[in-house]
Amino acid sequence: MYLFKQVADLREALEHEKKAGKRIGFVPTMGALHQGHISLIRQAKALTDIVVCSIFVNPTQFNDPKDFEKYPITIKEDILKLNDAETDILFIPSVAEMYPEGVNGLHLHYDFGYVETVLEGAFRKNHFQGVGMVVHKLLDIVQPHDLFMGQKDFQQCMIIKRLLEITGIPSTLHICPTLRENDGLAMSSRNMRLSQTERQTATQISRTLTYMKEQLRQLPFDVLKQNARKQLQDAGFQPDYVEIADTDNLQLLDKPIHKEMVMLIAAKLGEVRLIDNMIIPSMASIPLS
Ligand code: PAF
Repeated sequence: MYLFKQVADLREALEHEKKAGKRIGFVPTMGALHQGHISLIRQAKALTDIVVCSIFVNPTQFNDPKDFEKYPITIKEDILKLNDAETDILFIPSVAEMYPEGVNGLHLHYDFGYVETVLEGAFRKNHFQGVGMVVHKLLDIVQPHDLFMGQKDFQQCMIIKRLLEITGIPSTLHICPTLRENDGLAMSSRNMRLSQTERQTATQISRTLTYMKEQLRQLPFDVLKQNARKQLQDAGFQPDYVEIADTDNLQLLDKPIHKEMVMLIAAKLGEVRLIDNMIIPSMASIPLS
């Protein structure tokens, strides 16, 4: 695995690979890597010739400075994991390398439309502008044929789809399934920040999603969402939202539709904010209980 810290060096290496006709796959991350990230690397390896991973904790996407300060950094372990997964290139830029104009110097604004205004967008002001900015910069640098991101950040994937449309960047986005621990907890870098007891409680999110899926035919959505909130609160969470939406456009639903839906939860456990989601392929796939 080659490691680059400077944009110019990475660009030069990739130019060489592209001239040799290699297909470039890209996995952007903020480090603190877990098996979910590694599954993205594996998928990239299966579909492309050269896999580039970036590790950059992007300051412009943290609406809460405390969350930024406490974001786990495990760079040595990350390098070992990426090397084991046979990643070809790792890019670890500094903040100055990514934002030579300064983090407040760039005043881009992306028109992501409605998708930016709901759920994460409503609770994390400017978060998706920051994500858009850094992913735009990274895509400009790497110019990958294929981009790999995790379904766990469902809304982020929709934002990136829109970013590709707005900018006309021709990379193909692959949305890869969420990996879960044996007890159902969605893998996330933030799980590292949970205490032992919180870690046990954290499974309630996926249990609540499963409960919602099982009851989707039986209960009106408002009752279902209320029950889900109560389950989370009883377990010790402070839920930000529990919603059911149309997967195509994230329009929030108050009753079932005859197409794919997604159930999404964001909730705080102590200091740690967790998100998760579950896709309902169509009403036909929901078991009758
Ligand atoms: O999902 C993440 O880890 C980040 O939001 C991303 C896409 C790497 C941008 O900083």
